[in-house]
Amino acid sequence: MDYTASDTRYGNMVYRRCGASGVQLPVLSLGLWHNFGGVDSFDTGREIVRKAFDSGIIHFDLANNYGPPPGSAESNFGRIMKKDLDPWRDELVISTKAGYLMWPGPFGEFGSRKYLLASLDHSLKRLHLDYVDIFYSHRFDPDTPLEETMGALASAVKSGKALYAGISNYSPEQTDRAAEILRSMDTPCLIHQVKYSLFRREPEEGLSNVLDTNNIGAIAFSPLAQGLLTDRYLDGIPADSRAGKPHGFLKSEHITPGILETVRKLNRLAGSWSMTLAELALNWVKSHSFVTSVLVGASSVPQLDTNLRIVTMPDFTQGQIEEINACLSLT
Ligand SMILES: NC(=O)c1ccc[n+]([C@@H]2O[C@H](COP(=O)([O-])OP(=O)(O)OC[C@H]3O[C@@H](n4cnc5c(N)ncnc54)[C@H](OP(=O)(O)O)[C@@H]3O)[C@@H](O)[C@H]2O)c1
Repeated sequence: MDYTASDTRYGNMVYRRCGASGVQLPVLSLGLWHNFGGVDSFDTGREIVRKAFDSGIIHFDLANNYGPPPGSAESNFGRIMKKDLDPWRDELVISTKAGYLMWPGPFGEFGSRKYLLASLDHSLKRLHLDYVDIFYSHRFDPDTPLEETMGALASAVKSGKALYAGISNYSPEQTDRAAEILRSMDTPCLIHQVKYSLFRREPEEGLSNVLDTNNIGAIAFSPLAQGLLTDRYLDGIPADSRAGKPHGFLKSEHITPGILETVRKLNRLAGSWSMTLAELALNWVKSHSFVTSVLVGASSVPQLDTNLRIVTMPDFTQGQIEEINACLSLT
C-alpha cells in the first residue's frame, strides 16, 4: 500500500487564481464532509484522496465537525497525510473551519476568539499538521462582534497556524464588513465558501458582486446538491447513498416528486449532450466566472473519475446555460 504520487498529476488539471491572491486552486476540489468519518471505510476514503491528488486536486477541504463523529474526518485525513501525502505537503492546500458545535458550554461553537483559536489547535493535532492553508469562520455569529471573529482569523494567520483566512455562509452585507475588517488587520479575506448549485442560486443575488469588488475568491460547496443533481435517486433511494444512510444530511423527504421531475428533465438534457447529469451540474457551476473552484464530494473513485471530466470540458455558453436553467422552471 506504499504510495508515490503520479508524475502526471499536473498534466490535466486547470488552476484558477483565488481573488487577487497568490493562491491558485484546482477548478475541482475535494470536500471531506461525508464519506471520510469514523462511520465510513478508511480504505475507500484513502483511495479517493490518492486518486484526487494523482489527478491534480491539490485542495482538500475539512472542518472541525466533519465526521461523524465530529473530528473524525480530520483524524482520518491526518492518517492519510502521515501514510501517503506528507512528502507533498508543500503542494497541498488544506483547509479547515470552526463555527458549528464541537463541545458543550458557551465556547463550543460560533465565533468567539476563545472557540476559534482552541478549535484550530485541536484541528491541527487531529490533522497531524503544523499549519492549515486556509482557516475559515464556518458561519456568522450574530452575538459576537465581527471584529472579534475576524481578529481571531487574523491571529491564526499571524501565528503561522493558518496561511490565509476565509469565511463561509456569510450574507453579502456580512461579507463586505468582514472583508473591510480583515483588510484593516492586514489579513485580506482570501475566499468565501458558498453553497451554489443549480438548486441553490443565492450567491447570484449580490454576493458574487461583493466578492468581485473585494477581490475575494469563491469556492462552491454542494454543487451536486448532495447528490440530488446526479442519477443517484432516479430509481429510488439506494441503501449506500447519502439519503439512505441514517447520519446523512440529505434526508429522504428532500427527494420530492417535484425535485425528481426536474432532475429527470436535466438528466435527459445531459444525455442529449452525451454527458452525465453530474457533469452537467458541475460544469454549470464552473461556467460562472465568480467561481474559483467547484468543491465536490464523492463516495467512490468512479464518482470522482466522472466528476474529473469537467476539468477539460469547455465552460457552457450562455445559450447552454439558458437551456439548462429552463429545465428548472418546475422546481
Ligand atoms: N461551508 C459549509 O457550510 C459547507 C457545507 C456543506 C459542504 N461543504 C463542503 O463542500 C463539500 C462538498 O459538499 P457535498 O458533499 O454536499 O457535495 P456534492 O458534490 O453536492 O455531493 C456529494 C455527493 O454526491 C454524490 N456524487 C458525487 N459524484 C457523483 C457522481 N459522479 N455520480 C453520482 N453521484 C455522485 C455522492 O453521494 P453518495 O454519497 O450518495 O454516493 C457524494 O457523496 C463538503 O465535503 C465540504 O467540504 C461546506
